[in-house]
Amino acid sequence: MEIIDGKKVADQIKSEIAAEVEKMVAEGKKRPHLAVIIVGHDGGSETYVAHKVKSCAQVGFTSTKIAFEDTVTETELLEKINELNNDTDIDGFIVQLPLPKHIDEQKVIEAIDYRKDVDGFHPVNVGRMSIGLPCFVSATPSGIIELLRRYEIPTQGKHCVVIGRSNIVGKPIANLMMQKTYPGDATVTVCHSRTRNLKEICLSADIIIAALGSPAFLKEDMVKEGAVIIDVGTTRIPCSTTKSGFRLCGDVDFEHVAPKCSYITPVPGGVGPMTIVSLLRNTLQAARQRQ
Ligand code: GUN
Repeated sequence: MEIIDGKKVADQIKSEIAAEVEKMVAEGKKRPHLAVIIVGHDGGSETYVAHKVKSCAQVGFTSTKIAFEDTVTETELLEKINELNNDTDIDGFIVQLPLPKHIDEQKVIEAIDYRKDVDGFHPVNVGRMSIGLPCFVSATPSGIIELLRRYEIPTQGKHCVVIGRSNIVGKPIANLMMQKTYPGDATVTVCHSRTRNLKEICLSADIIIAALGSPAFLKEDMVKEGAVIIDVGTTRIPCSTTKSGFRLCGDVDFEHVAPKCSYITPVPGGVGPMTIVSLLRNTLQAARQRQ
């Protein structure tokens, strides 16, 4: 059994991006510039945004954080998006989700110029991704694909079971895993809350991607010997022994499942660090396309 070290791979990719940025600057080009909009004070979102801003500095990007109170109106937010769409210094930007209930998330996503949509949430990017055209692929699925590639995990003809059908992870990763390329070329089954024989389906999987957001959901009796397990879960559980007052819990019962696997991602330190790196890669791509 090998533990997939997402932190190590992410650090390696960050060094590659940093080298590329220095090369761009040496050629007289401007540093890639990412803007991040955050609304309100959701603890998880504030942590993620802080990590994104810090990671930009680590690779030599310029970053701008734009914070709104959760009383901001949809119109005000859309105005800011319009401003960023037209700001020639900004290569890409994201609006951290979730948004307060009075704001229509889909309307916000569709207001972003798809050429600056480094989250890959705009329907143009989602559509292009689904038919294998160049686009911005959203961060988590892109991070998973990169982990499979860097660990040279065979995927062709394998049975890949995705648990979860969210727009951010389940749907796009299922799509990428079936595409005619490596990593990909897998036979994909998507399971969700209405799936009847989940255990049997999981037992036939060579690769399981658990992205349902239910702590320790995937148990050892659902996993066949030698399977590859990718855990996308990041549920915050209150915890008295950590400084932050919580700990992250994955969707996989790691302790019992790990001994049966060929490869497994831990939580934290697996998929998580790769998602930010994917955002950085998309921003670099956006900057290249604009210069
Ligand atoms: N909320 C959870 N994941 C993400 C993400 O990848 N991007 C944005 N914008 N919000 C999120």
